[in-house]
Amino acid sequence: MEPVAHLVKVSIPNYLAGLPVPDSIGGWFRLGIRDWIALIPPTAALAGLGYMSYKAFCPLARGPSCGRVNLTVKKDVNKVVDSVDIEDISEKAAFCRCWRSENWPYCDGSHGRHNEATKDNVGPLVITKKKA
Ligand code: FES
Repeated sequence: MEPVAHLVKVSIPNYLAGLPVPDSIGGWFRLGIRDWIALIPPTAALAGLGYMSYKAFCPLARGPSCGRVNLTVKKDVNKVVDSVDIEDISEKAAFCRCWRSENWPYCDGSHGRHNEATKDNVGPLVITKKKA
């Protein structure tokens, strides 16, 4: 633990104290090229830390698939509700459960690509009518 304590209590504070951070706004305009170069590593470290925090804590930064099942189907409505009259099904119908079908609410086989890309195992709901 001593190396970490030394880093936190001595090395980092000494490094930060040695940075050419001006005391006034006008001081920024008087910095030389070496001063600006000295400020690059801590600025990059702060930017990296900010970016990692943004990715970790901001839901919008996690990408569209994070926490969402439906990426494309009827995104203009608050809730996707579909109904199909059983009489309209001839013998068999396959309904999408992966939310990737281009022929919603029916399965078009897109679950195969989704499963391959995500190692998921989703598939359609198949409704079969009994023959009378
Ligand atoms: S396309 Fe979604 S389950 Fe087949």
